[in-house]
Amino acid sequence: MSLPQTPPTASPGGAVGAVVVLAAGQGTRMRSATPKVLHRLGGRSMLGHVLAAAAPLGAARTVVVVGSGREAVTEHLADVAPEADAVVQEEQLGSGHAAAVALDALGEVSGAVLIVNGDAPLLRVETLTTLVQAHRDAGAVLTVLTAEVADPTGLGRIVRDGTGGVRAIVEERDADTATRAIAEVNAGVYVGDAAAVREALTRVGAANDQGEIYLTDVLGLLVADGAPVGGHRADDAVDTLGCNDQRELADRRRTLNDRVLDRLMRAGVVVIDPMTTWVDVTADVAAEAVLQPGTQLLGATTVGAGAVVGPDTTLTDTEVGEGASVVRSHVTLSVVGPAATVGPFSYLRPGTELARGAKVGAFVETKNVQVGEGSKVPHLSYVGDATIGQGSNVGAATVFVNYDGVAKHRTEIGDHVRIGSDTMLVAPVTVGDGAYTAAGSVITEDVPPGAMAVARAHQRNVAGWVGRRRPGTRSAEAAAAAGGAPADDAADTRSTQSEGGRATATARDDDHQGRR
Ligand code: UD1
Ligand code: CA
Repeated sequence: MSLPQTPPTASPGGAVGAVVVLAAGQGTRMRSATPKVLHRLGGRSMLGHVLAAAAPLGAARTVVVVGSGREAVTEHLADVAPEADAVVQEEQLGSGHAAAVALDALGEVSGAVLIVNGDAPLLRVETLTTLVQAHRDAGAVLTVLTAEVADPTGLGRIVRDGTGGVRAIVEERDADTATRAIAEVNAGVYVGDAAAVREALTRVGAANDQGEIYLTDVLGLLVADGAPVGGHRADDAVDTLGCNDQRELADRRRTLNDRVLDRLMRAGVVVIDPMTTWVDVTADVAAEAVLQPGTQLLGATTVGAGAVVGPDTTLTDTEVGEGASVVRSHVTLSVVGPAATVGPFSYLRPGTELARGAKVGAFVETKNVQVGEGSKVPHLSYVGDATIGQGSNVGAATVFVNYDGVAKHRTEIGDHVRIGSDTMLVAPVTVGDGAYTAAGSVITEDVPPGAMAVARAHQRNVAGWVGRRRPGTRSAEAAAAAGGAPADDAADTRSTQSEGGRATATARDDDHQGRR
């Protein structure tokens, strides 16, 4: 009994022995201090997209050639693909030189090697799998991915012979007019026998317009050797588009976004305005969720069925539950529970967790807080480092005073609590189940369950003050018309509150009342 020679096409795992990503180039045309392959689109770096497309091939080893900005690229690689190895190309002598450096680092490769430019962020695994399959089916030594494009400017042209066989790749700057007229271009993706490519690379010179060692020259050399070489046209030319400057980056970003939205809409997501809705490839949205105009779903964000997000909302690494709504808000690393509501105009910072049906209303900032089921923070508040139980309400303009200038402290609010408007909760502090705080209180001590905490100055009314101190004003006229003229020129009335009710006392008009 013999083992099958190739795995089934449906499962690309183990399709190649090694993957090489060329990412050492400077990317001069980006005009940026950031290494080219680290520029981001759709939630990943360009390099991240290439690695993600190649990952399902299941190569035993992945090598990324780094050079320009190598520290940053290597660090990023450790982050996004720790199983991949960075290999340094000290001097950027060309893509062929970069490939040679990688193959040297790889040593013996069992199976084919996939070599891919690091600046092709739209590549999809389907395209790579089909290329590898075509390579195998043809029994080729090297197969290059090609594409028919409307505008081949700047790209290497694929030269074929009368029978359609690939003869050479000619860079535009080295091409004559007839060659420049060719619309089939090199996508910068190659699959080949590692030993054959390595050997051919030793013969590649730098006699071209840029004086570089071109990987593309390997193809012509192998053809001259009489080796079987193939050119596989991509089903979707868009997949092969590179990215060399900011304009192209913006184009690729738009294309990637269109693809993501297309997938979501086919799956039943309602996207009101695809032009202003941006969803990272790493985000996920359930059917019948609604994305309003101006929505951005970034990173590992997920949105549950029937939830409504937007308009004008940015969610980063955030989980939005079924039937929740987030309107005109900015949310990072948070959980918005099922049927919870946020906004308009709120800012949920990392660690915010809203349980089912909880509400964070307008102009509220939260951070590191658990809001229990059905609890509400409806207006104009700051809630940081806190736990709020179930069914509680935090009155307008409440501040959780969590920072003493040196350290952060926690506030614990129980179930069915009523925090009065304009309460300052000076942490660390606990408000027990069912307790109330009076509006305008500065709460510095724990409030037992069921208690009403009052922590504010008593009010006093200085009778007739306006008539005496602001005579002739509209206020004084209004007061006089209402019968509010001063009874006694020199005295005022102070009202004081006591447990049982109100008592009044007379006091002198004094400096504290805004005398000028
Ligand atoms: C390259 C191809 C071209 C193809 C196009 C597709 C060559 C010579 N030309 O052109 O035929 O149509 O891609 O986008 O390969 N790199 C290194 N080290 C170097 C030089 C380059 O690692 O010393 C890397 C770059 O980071 C990049 C890739 O190789 O990922 C290609 O280099 P680039 O300068 O972008 O080549 P293109 O002119 O785009
Ligand atoms: Ca390029």
